[in-house]
Amino acid sequence: MKSVAVLPGDGIGPEVTSAALDAVDRLNLPLDLRFGDIGWECWREEGNPVPQRTWKLLEETDTCLLGAITSKPLREAEAELPPGLRGTGLTFVSPVIQLRQRLNLYANIRPVTDLVDGRFDFTVIRENTEGLYAGFDVHGLDDALWNAVRDHPNAQASGAAATSVTLRLQTEFGMDRLLRHGFAYARSRGHHRLTLVDKPNVLRHSSNHLRERLELIAGDYPDIETEILNVDAVALWMVRRPERFGVLVAENMFGDILSDLGAGVMGGLGLAPSGNIGDHGSYFEPVHGSAPGMAGQDRANPMAMLLAVAQMLDHLDLAVPGEEIRAAVRAVAERRTTVTYDMGGTSGTQEVARAVAGELAPAESAAETTAPRAGRAPSDDLVDRLARLDTASVSDALDSLGVGGVLAGIAPRVPGTRAAGRAFTVTYQPVDDTGEGFRNAANYLDDVPEGSFVVVDNAGSTTCTNWGSLLTSLAQRRGVRGTALHGSARDIAEIRAAGYPLYSTGATMVSGKNRVELAATGRDVTVGGITVRPGDIVVADDNGVLVVPDAYAAEVAERAEGVERTEGAIGAAVAAGLRLDEARLRYGYAKPWDGGRQPSHA
Ligand code: IPM
Ligand code: MN
Repeated sequence: MKSVAVLPGDGIGPEVTSAALDAVDRLNLPLDLRFGDIGWECWREEGNPVPQRTWKLLEETDTCLLGAITSKPLREAEAELPPGLRGTGLTFVSPVIQLRQRLNLYANIRPVTDLVDGRFDFTVIRENTEGLYAGFDVHGLDDALWNAVRDHPNAQASGAAATSVTLRLQTEFGMDRLLRHGFAYARSRGHHRLTLVDKPNVLRHSSNHLRERLELIAGDYPDIETEILNVDAVALWMVRRPERFGVLVAENMFGDILSDLGAGVMGGLGLAPSGNIGDHGSYFEPVHGSAPGMAGQDRANPMAMLLAVAQMLDHLDLAVPGEEIRAAVRAVAERRTTVTYDMGGTSGTQEVARAVAGELAPAESAAETTAPRAGRAPSDDLVDRLARLDTASVSDALDSLGVGGVLAGIAPRVPGTRAAGRAFTVTYQPVDDTGEGFRNAANYLDDVPEGSFVVVDNAGSTTCTNWGSLLTSLAQRRGVRGTALHGSARDIAEIRAAGYPLYSTGATMVSGKNRVELAATGRDVTVGGITVRPGDIVVADDNGVLVVPDAYAAEVAERAEGVERTEGAIGAAVAAGLRLDEARLRYGYAKPWDGGRQPSHA
């Protein structure tokens, strides 16, 4: 049992916190939730937004879930104190900054993922204890600071009292631990690129210092490619080609700005979670603020908070995977029928949270949650990665490895659908004696595991069918991803209406009943010289169907992602006016699977 300090805060904080916690309630998480006070009301009533009792609670618990907290600039904050506390020298320091600095939570992990289309998945890791947030921010300079800036002509013209200064603090202690955290995170999430975001063309010395640390520490992580980009260029690329990024590491203020930009790229602050991690503590919160103007209206999007809970579960290493909550949020986001105003819907906070809850299977006991639940496909990262890729890129990747995979002659029947799943193979044979009445060929479908891609071998027959509307609706109910027939289908109009990914050699109206029967399931199937083994990954879209042998799947995904990066880079360069031949040369079209590396920025 882990203990969590729950600090709902103010504004929309309490409502998104309770909606999210209600939604995950059915998972029976082994968590001891202990509620505490923080935020604007504490400041207004006690002159301290993080009361002593809350620090104590944080000390006693394993981690913390924070809703949202209002932060206001100096003057507005002072004005809201009770009269007796005004003018007593109390200053409002943002509680989140207090937590980060006092608990030494130096890495602020802000994942940016495309929930609906899976087009991009990167993480901004923001330094959380120093940089421009270190607290050296003064108006009216003492001698030491004045001596540092007095030669600037504007300082000369203003004088020490009329000058203000903020220092960007960078220490080897701070940089090294952040960089190491960034590399370890990249490695653990399978990201191959770490981008250091800085401003070396202007902040020459501090950036060079950071660069030296990066070069040194990168030596311990030879499997991860590094680059240093200017923060302004990163802002551009994050909008234009978010898929090119893996892990971005940035100074506190740069990371603050880029993580809001990232939230915008993923569809709004209502979707962006974050985790603040140190060596001895952590807290999790949505990136969004307290939106006081929206409080109490049941309008705020609870998804960012749900995703923050998922991130917290990952961090606590609980048997209940955060991934399950993410998948539930994704399902609701994809469906678009129950979403809040920011995602184009009309649903309220609680309604969205309930929809997410509906996607989560209830757990009978904590023990049961360690095993994948019946009726739910276990998560399968390789299938997910391949599902995001175009078959053309996957085919190029297979080619580059000298592996054939295209199931020639099996054509899409439902335009615009695409699917990927592990092959469940089915072999049919002709019925030899027709005297015996009905032979049931398709009963295998009751036992197909969720997430499968059914591959039926009927020797390419176009004289009778092996699939129709009834099997389609059962397959959809069972969570089958798609069907490829080395044979024929009927009821094409209904299958189109159902939007089911179906691929076949032919289409005909003739029943297969009493013409074919089941020979076996789980047997290797060969189509036009290509063998499909049970468990291989089948990927299909409007280009057709191909099979990726299980043993090659990771390498193929890697290379196909490289192909898409290369083609994306060439497309963007051509759109920006570069000649096609130059763009191809620059981004390495001869070996596109190497990944469209950015030409180096001077
Ligand atoms: C964030 C917030 C905070 C920050 C504010 C509330 C102090 O914007 O967590 O990104 O600037 O870090
Ligand atoms: Mn921010």
